[in-house]
Amino acid sequence: MSMIAVDYDGLIPNNVALGQDVRVKRALEKWHPGYIGWWMDMGPEGFQNALVYLRTAIGVDPKGWAKFDYVRMPQYRWGVLLAPQREGRKIPFGSHKGEDAWQEVPGEYRAMLRRLVVIQGDTEPASVEQQRHLGKTAPSLYDMRNLFQVNVEEGRHLWAMVYLLQKYFGADGREEAEALLERRSGDPDTPRMLGAFNEKTPDWLSFFMFTYFTDRDGKMQLEALAQSGFDPLSRTCRFMLTEEAHHMFVGETGVTRVVQRTCEAMKQAGITDPYEIDKIRKLGVIDLPTIQKKANLHFSLTLDLFGNEISTNAANAFHAGLKGRFREDRLTDDHQLESGTYPVLRLIDGQIKKDDAPALSALNMRLRDDYVADCQLGVDRWNKVIADLGIPFEIKLPHVAFHRHIGEFSRTNADVDGNILSPAEWTRRRTDFLPSEADKDFIESLMRPQFEKGKYASWIAPPKVGIDNKPGDFEYVKIADA
Ligand SMILES: [Fe+2]
Ligand SMILES: [Fe+2]
Repeated sequence: MSMIAVDYDGLIPNNVALGQDVRVKRALEKWHPGYIGWWMDMGPEGFQNALVYLRTAIGVDPKGWAKFDYVRMPQYRWGVLLAPQREGRKIPFGSHKGEDAWQEVPGEYRAMLRRLVVIQGDTEPASVEQQRHLGKTAPSLYDMRNLFQVNVEEGRHLWAMVYLLQKYFGADGREEAEALLERRSGDPDTPRMLGAFNEKTPDWLSFFMFTYFTDRDGKMQLEALAQSGFDPLSRTCRFMLTEEAHHMFVGETGVTRVVQRTCEAMKQAGITDPYEIDKIRKLGVIDLPTIQKKANLHFSLTLDLFGNEISTNAANAFHAGLKGRFREDRLTDDHQLESGTYPVLRLIDGQIKKDDAPALSALNMRLRDDYVADCQLGVDRWNKVIADLGIPFEIKLPHVAFHRHIGEFSRTNADVDGNILSPAEWTRRRTDFLPSEADKDFIESLMRPQFEKGKYASWIAPPKVGIDNKPGDFEYVKIADA
C-alpha cells in the first residue's frame, strides 16, 4: 500500500498531492468560496460561531485518523482524503474483471461514471440542508455536537465527490460541481436529485431515524462504489465509510436512548401497556407505537433510494465494472453474473410474489436485501432494551411493499405486514402506520432545547459513554462563545 502523508498547509487539506496538481488545486480553490457561501446559507442555522468539539480527519491510517478539538464550524478543515492505493489492484467484477483497475476515467463509461459520482455527491449537502434547523432544539450539548459532526462530515463527503469531478471530468465536472451547490433540498424548482433527500427532518426523532436508516443507505451505496474498477472512486468511498460509521452510530444510539427513556419512565409510573398512549405522553416521553410509526416512515422512504427492483442502469454499471455489490470482495461467485438468477419480490396480478430475475438485472434488489438485513441488526438491539425493561413491545421493520413511491410496489397500497389494501382502506388506516398530525404535534411539543452541561431533555436517556471518552458534564458545544 502506498500512503501519501496528509498536507495540512494549504487551503484544502489533502493526501492527493494537490500541491503538484496546479490545475485541480486552482479549480478547488475557486470552488471553495461558493462552498463556504452554501454552508453559511444552508448549513446549521445559528451556532456558526460556537466552539464545537469536533473530530477532524488528519490521516487515513485506520488506527489513528482523527483528532478532536474545539472548532468553529466555518473553520472546519474540509479536506480531500483517499484511502491508500493498493498496489496492483484489479477490477474485481463485471466484464473487465481481472484487468488492472483504472487510474483514469475509461472513455466509454465516462457519462455513466459521472452520473454515479453526481448522484452520490448530491445526497451529501442535501442531508445538511434537511437538518439545518435542529441545532436550536437539541436535547443536549452532546447531541448538538453529534449533529454538527455529522453535518461537517457530510460537507467533507461533498468535497470528496467534487474532487473527483474536478480532477477527472474536465469542463462537465466543473459544471456539475457548481450545480451541487445550487440545488436545494425540498425546493420545488431546484430540488435535490433523490426523493428521500427532499423530505423534512422536522424533529430529533426524525434525525435519529434518518441517520439510522438513510445514512445506512449511504453506507450500502459507498460499499458498492468502494468496489469500483475506477480506483480513485474506490479509494474515496473507502475512506468515507470510516466517517459514515459514526453517523449510523448516532442514529442507532439515538433511537436506543429514546426507547430506553420511554421504557424507564413507563416502569417508574407503573405502566406496562405500551398502548396507553395518553398516559405515557404525559410522562414527557415518546410512546413506543409512535416510535414505530417514525421507523415505518424513514425505512420506507429510504427503500425508495435503492431504485427499481429490476434495473438496466444497475446492470450496466456492474457489467462496466463501475459499481459492484455489497462487499463484492467477500462473495464467492464468478463476479460477472452473465448467467444465474436472483429472487425478486414483485407485484403479480395484484399479489406480492417471488419471481426469479436475471441476477444482473436484479442488483438493486440484492443491495436492498443486504440493506434490510443490516437494518434488522440494530432493531434487534432496540428490542433487547425494551425487553430488558420488561415492556411487551417489539419494533418491527415494515414489509418492503409498505408506503413505496418507487419500484414494483409504488403501484399498490400495502400495510406494514404486506397485505394489499384498497385505496379507501389505505386512506382510512394510514395514520395507524405513519405519524398523524397529532403525533407530529406531540413530538414537536417535546422539542425544547436543553443546553445545560450534562443535562438531557425529558424524552431521551444520557449516552453510556461520552465522545472521545469525555465525562458526562463535558461542554461539547461552547455556545457562550458564539
Ligand atoms: Fe455522507
Ligand atoms: Fe452520512
